[in-house]
Amino acid sequence: MARPRVLITRRWPGEVERQLAERFDVTFNESDEPLGQAELAAAMGEYDVVCPVVPDKLPAAVIEGGERAKLIANYGVGFEHIDIEAAKAKGIAVTNTPGVLTDATADLALTLILMAARRAGEGEREVRAGRWTGWGPTHLLGASLRGKTLGLVGFGRIGIATARRAFHGFGMKIAYYGRRETLPDVARELDARFYPDLGELLAASDVVSLHTPGGAETANLIDAQALAAMKPGGYLINTARGGVVDHAALAEALRSGQLAGAGLDVFPQEPKIPEELLGLENVVLLPHLGSATRETRVAMGERALANVVAWAEGHPLPDRVA
Ligand code: DGY
Repeated sequence: MARPRVLITRRWPGEVERQLAERFDVTFNESDEPLGQAELAAAMGEYDVVCPVVPDKLPAAVIEGGERAKLIANYGVGFEHIDIEAAKAKGIAVTNTPGVLTDATADLALTLILMAARRAGEGEREVRAGRWTGWGPTHLLGASLRGKTLGLVGFGRIGIATARRAFHGFGMKIAYYGRRETLPDVARELDARFYPDLGELLAASDVVSLHTPGGAETANLIDAQALAAMKPGGYLINTARGGVVDHAALAEALRSGQLAGAGLDVFPQEPKIPEELLGLENVVLLPHLGSATRETRVAMGERALANVVAWAEGHPLPDRVA
């Protein structure tokens, strides 16, 4: 019997690509250039399984034309770039890679919290530009974290992992906003306070870290009004999705001093960075590095592979989202 045809839209770590090649008739993207909409639409008609990455857009127009694809095995946990309803209507299953990137993403949220609060980006730029004139009692003073409140917007796996690091490692207090209260064990472990109202969480937090899914439901959740509700001199951290934040309003809050700083790993139209942020010293800008460790990227590939194998063998899909 012919082996299922699988398309991998970008380069994956070599060890996972080798495992895929042993089991399936796989096409790899040797150039690693992102595929266009026409190529993705054509792939839905040519492959049994398409494995996109988070920046690949799969709207209804891409999904609807394809008569061959039976599975979209996403390499990534977020799947708002895939039109789930269109996939369901077409009988195409969709899977993601939850769990395996929790630690790496929480580590990066802490990286951004520390970089923003301790002005590490500003310091690095000063050193590299030859502008550093030496140690001084008032040079580049940032904020201490101990005893400050970290407010998490979204308290799923990554939000909780971020809270654990901040609470146990840095002595921060934990507050969170989400659809429901967390498990009693987690609340007890982190002495975490639940805020059913976003505005109240923002007003109570020194550092706000975003951990919601992207998509229409959370688009511009952090707008001018939300930023005005934050504690003056607070920090905003985003490792979730760029669309959750109104970046023009954020730039204004950073310019006016309403916020002391921000740390951003994600942007609405990656790899474009909103122009108004580029000239600001008090924002740390990273190129979507949340899951970018070797170990994590291998684990994400293996998780996607496990879903493809389950589909090929007719087993229930371990990470089915549609
Ligand atoms: C994901 O998997 O959704 C991440 O954004 C990739 O780092």
